[in-house]
Amino acid sequence: MKFIKSMQKNQSTDHLKTEGDINLSTERARWIEENISKETQWLLQRDANVFLHQSLSTPCLNAVDSCNGIFLTDTDGRQYMDFHGNNVHQLGYNNSFILERTIEAIRKLHFSPRRYTNQYAVEFAEHLTATMPAGINRVLFAPGGTLAIGMALKLARYVTGKHKVISTWDSFHGASLDAISAGGEALFQQNMGPLMPGVIHVPAYNTTNGFFNGPDADIEYARYIEYVAEKETGVGAIIMETIRNTTVHVPTKRFWQKIREICDRHGILLILDEIPIALGRTGKLYAFENMGIEPDILVLGKGLGGGVFPMAAIVTKDEYNVASETALGHYTHEKPPVGSAAGIAVLEYIRQQEILQHVNNLHSFAAKRLEEMKARTNLIGEIRSIGLLWGIELVYDGDLTRKNVSAAEKAMYTCMSNGLSFKVSDGNILTLSPPLTITGQQLMKAFDIVEDSLC
Ligand SMILES: Cc1ncc(COP(=O)(O)O)c(C=O)c1O
Repeated sequence: MKFIKSMQKNQSTDHLKTEGDINLSTERARWIEENISKETQWLLQRDANVFLHQSLSTPCLNAVDSCNGIFLTDTDGRQYMDFHGNNVHQLGYNNSFILERTIEAIRKLHFSPRRYTNQYAVEFAEHLTATMPAGINRVLFAPGGTLAIGMALKLARYVTGKHKVISTWDSFHGASLDAISAGGEALFQQNMGPLMPGVIHVPAYNTTNGFFNGPDADIEYARYIEYVAEKETGVGAIIMETIRNTTVHVPTKRFWQKIREICDRHGILLILDEIPIALGRTGKLYAFENMGIEPDILVLGKGLGGGVFPMAAIVTKDEYNVASETALGHYTHEKPPVGSAAGIAVLEYIRQQEILQHVNNLHSFAAKRLEEMKARTNLIGEIRSIGLLWGIELVYDGDLTRKNVSAAEKAMYTCMSNGLSFKVSDGNILTLSPPLTITGQQLMKAFDIVEDSLC
């Protein structure tokens, strides 16, 4: 196959191994050769012939045929528990409660042109704000997380009259030019020319990057951010993921409370990006609820449209409803009835099925099993977790400073051969993010597959 050959030619890609399954590695080409039928390889070839190639995407690894519950089925009939799902799979695939509500809306009102509002959008906005702390009661929808990030940045500039934003290196807030500027991932920024001005990057909250150590590392880090905010005039916003979804670094409560204080003291808006992690993943509906703080602007996306419609949103305070003279996010799909119907169903399903309780129960249930796994191999340096999200950091000889990138890549492909799909983050972290509807038995089976891949 032509594209597989072209992948094999390019070997110097270690610096790009942020995700593990980059589309150029030899490990990946081998996996395709060994696992994918000629028919599916032909589909992959046609895909590679017609789509623009880009990192982390085309050429693709495999082709999916159908999805149901926690499973994807590929075109060769192989089933995978999906612990990746781009974080759109929170409530499982083919969720009939969500699908039926969405199909009803498709039949009745599949689009709402500008100038009109509609029952679905208003109801969804009302339901969404009803789940927020009092005073966070204004919404704007967008057809993707990246666009919602752009709206949040614009709103913060407009409200504060200050254009600078503090963000973290290695963060991801979306793939457009403004979002890659606000983010800090080299893979997205390199060769792109001038980025949006005014972004000040600080190190990511990371217990293993060596910048802030010791028992008060979190507070020292917050103090450093305040120092930067004071030195740089014109900082109007701090943007961060409340909990970094990919690497599963979970900041302390006191860190977030300190950041909240800093924002209040300096007239800075706190933008929390919870695009991949809201809606129950952490055991609370929103990740910030674990931290005893409230954001000024919360950014949501991914599973908000139940996996059937691309939906994202910013949710903010009444006092920031001040931009009626300008356009914050003038998107064609601004009040989508179909996405809103899906969103209403998502919130209802989470409540009716007591998903938060289920997540918390499974989290406790899994803890012992993971401790056992860690004790059995010196490949695991650390397991970080919250709710139904785990980051298993693979290292050499238990040493957290020595990332084991090749073990992570090998584990990912071995797991895939054994029916479990997940993402590798930062080169060496196995990011396990199952649908929140998973059963305890299915979860244990997945952990067995992970453990086998490390032996
Ligand atoms: C933390 C975070 N922010 C923003 C985005 C961008 O969302 P979208 O791909 O829907 O534009 C993502 C997507 O992966 C994300 O993980």
